[in-house]
Amino acid sequence: MCGIVGYVGKGDAVPVLMNGLSKLEYRGYDSAGVAVYDDTSKNVNICKTKGRIQNLQDKLYLTPLKGRLGIGHTRWATHGEPSDINAHPHSSGKEKIAVVHNGIIENYMALKEELMDKGYKFLSETDTEIVAQLIDYYYSKDSNLMSAVFKVIERIEGSYALGIICSDFPDRIIAVRKDSPLVIGLGEEENFIASDMPAILNYTRNVYLVEDNEVALITKDNVKIFDNNGSEVKKEVFKVDWDIEAAEKSGYDHFMLKEIYEQPKVVKDNIASRLLDDGISLDKVKLDKDDISKIDRIYVVACGTAYYAGLVGRYLIERVVRRPVSAEVASEFRYKDPIIDEKTLVIVVSQSGETADTLAAMRLAQKAGARTLAVVNVVGSSIAREADDVIYTLAGPEIAVASTKAFTAQVVVMSLLALKLALELEKISIEKYRQIKTEMEKLPSLVNKILNKEPVIKRFMHKYIGSKNVFYIGRGLDYIVSMEGSLKLKEIAYLHSEPYAAGELKHGPISLIEESTLVVGVVTQEELFEKSVSNMRECKSRGAKVLAVAMDGNSEIRKYADDVFFIPRTHWMLTPILANIPQQIFAYHMALGLGNDVDKPRNLAKSVTVE
Ligand code: F6R
Repeated sequence: MCGIVGYVGKGDAVPVLMNGLSKLEYRGYDSAGVAVYDDTSKNVNICKTKGRIQNLQDKLYLTPLKGRLGIGHTRWATHGEPSDINAHPHSSGKEKIAVVHNGIIENYMALKEELMDKGYKFLSETDTEIVAQLIDYYYSKDSNLMSAVFKVIERIEGSYALGIICSDFPDRIIAVRKDSPLVIGLGEEENFIASDMPAILNYTRNVYLVEDNEVALITKDNVKIFDNNGSEVKKEVFKVDWDIEAAEKSGYDHFMLKEIYEQPKVVKDNIASRLLDDGISLDKVKLDKDDISKIDRIYVVACGTAYYAGLVGRYLIERVVRRPVSAEVASEFRYKDPIIDEKTLVIVVSQSGETADTLAAMRLAQKAGARTLAVVNVVGSSIAREADDVIYTLAGPEIAVASTKAFTAQVVVMSLLALKLALELEKISIEKYRQIKTEMEKLPSLVNKILNKEPVIKRFMHKYIGSKNVFYIGRGLDYIVSMEGSLKLKEIAYLHSEPYAAGELKHGPISLIEESTLVVGVVTQEELFEKSVSNMRECKSRGAKVLAVAMDGNSEIRKYADDVFFIPRTHWMLTPILANIPQQIFAYHMALGLGNDVDKPRNLAKSVTVE
């Protein structure tokens, strides 16, 4: 997904912009560019190119840009193919005004036609170019840049974070935000803008979080932020407490591997201050018996991996709390006219807190009167700010596109939530809770035990790398782990894989089982063991190879599988947290073995801020 960085200060802008863009690579992009004001020629000069940031670096080597004011962008194509022309920044006719943009201008076609009628010419197919041209149009009337920007935001519809510079004002960046993240970094005689913290963490930890419909005027010594009526808004400085190391690879070959190995800490962080002796404390979320009694319908809404974490939550709430819960993919929920009223609780799960469909689903629920509870990783993200209540997943920045530690954190939080509800409604006793608490506290060291067996999984990779099709099967919680395992393999190994409820195989997909098929059978739910292994046997007898994930001490499983990965024993509710980790490592090694770009899989973006 697109990324923005901007610099105004006493130093050289280009190295800062390039460093920022490199920190945004993880968001997924197909082109990159910078616009820099040149003190000598008094022009804004643009350099941009399709492809990786290295291509931009090479281009800048041949035609260097120098200046103390600049904006940069990584683009993930939405309007027009990835190309040099469509890459950002975009400019008005003579490169007087340059703009970088994240989001989508929905009414850009009508505005483009209007401007073309006035004689404006367009070079690109993008929606962003109309922003630059429209600013130019209003600016040409009274030479007031700020008022031109205000007029433009009255005209454009959609979502946008904008960084704007103009050759007539070499001391400033104007930044605008609506439905797309934007922060302002505060430095000494220099200030920054960014769509994401990592882009500026090398330079500052003090930021202003820009809210929707705010416009900021940023010079090297000053930042002024206005609401959409033009009144100045006073902001608190937000201190970013992430370690800069946390946003980098720390010696691992890939971000994904580093994030997989961070999971013991992530689990620990998520339970540390929440698992109390006499109950569960979920940050500032108030969910006592009285609150819960006001709720008669619960939805869990999310996308992708976060949705699977949501499914674990649904399963546990239904099984332990005995309250019905619907889990819905956000892009479906939004359009099905869901039944929502003041007695509805909508739990949204999102790593980024910016996923367009999840955010829209949450807003829809709020509009219909529901109470919303967000399980979010990114502090200060749109979902986190707009939800009625937030539980943070405390996973730190997740850089690899394929989610690993954020999923684990989401599952831990959903498990805590289920336990909290069960305790409040007296569905489990305090003694039972304490037993589960003891098991939960062991999880970080159990995750470590699994990580120590990475070489075993690597051997499986060598054995199964030639598989043409992969089925992931399981029942109950194991089925949900299968869904996430299969998604991970698709995302980064580009292997066709299907998750199936084990009992469903016979109802159709078993016809696809043949000798080159790999079946990953997850069998941690011991009450369902007999049923699951009988499905594994059906696959094996049709020529498939079977790789099982089972609990330590279950020697019976060896009869049904070619290979087994054993996970440490834990309480049945907690098995998804452990059983998923070998799936992550397997997908990682399969992707590496197949020569894929593990951290930046093709066609995928980290944060899906378009619908
Ligand atoms: C898969 C993955 C995606 C995200 C999905 C939702 O590895 O990361 O499926 O889970 O795009 O994103 P968030 O959680 O940011 O709302």
